[in-house]
Amino acid sequence: MAKDEQEYTLIVVKPDGIKKSLTGNILTKLAEARLNIVAAKVLRVSRDLAENHYRHLKEKPFFKDVIDYIQGKPYGKNFERVMALVYKGEDAIRKVRVLAGATNPEEADSVSIRGAYGRITTRGVFENVVHASADPVDAEREIKLWFSPDEIVGDIYPSKKVQADIKEILVWE
Ligand code: TYD
Repeated sequence: MAKDEQEYTLIVVKPDGIKKSLTGNILTKLAEARLNIVAAKVLRVSRDLAENHYRHLKEKPFFKDVIDYIQGKPYGKNFERVMALVYKGEDAIRKVRVLAGATNPEEADSVSIRGAYGRITTRGVFENVVHASADPVDAEREIKLWFSPDEIVGDIYPSKKVQADIKEILVWE
């Protein structure tokens, strides 16, 4: 990447982060990277989204646990949600990965997000509080998976207008 080139990265505060009321702490920690926030939303993660997001882990023995985890299944209905964010900036992917810490919370730097707040469950699942994109290819794939163009401030990837055949939409009463 050329210096000054802007990168985008997806961050997801996972259901354990929501349950432990860590969204504020996580955003404060991420502010250390001096990046620009360009998108944020709270959502329930569908099975489709979860399986697509973690499709590189499909053959792993812990795949089902990881899918249940990102959907918040172990935590009950109130915590079946995540906060997804897109940050923009120079070297954004690496900077956020450093602040997030290693995948295994026991191996993560103790002042990183995962080191400070993560744990390994008795089932052996890494509850590591946040997801952060690993490289530019993953980041683009993940951002396009989690967000539509009109949910992001700025034209970060090429988009196009299509005629949508909307039969029913939800509006305020
Ligand atoms: P992975 O994509 O390898 O790591 P990262 O999230 O750091 O890019 O793994 C995705 C998630 O799967 C990880 O955040 C936690 C979970 N996981 C386990 O529970 N056990 C494991 O042995 C691994 C490698 C991952």
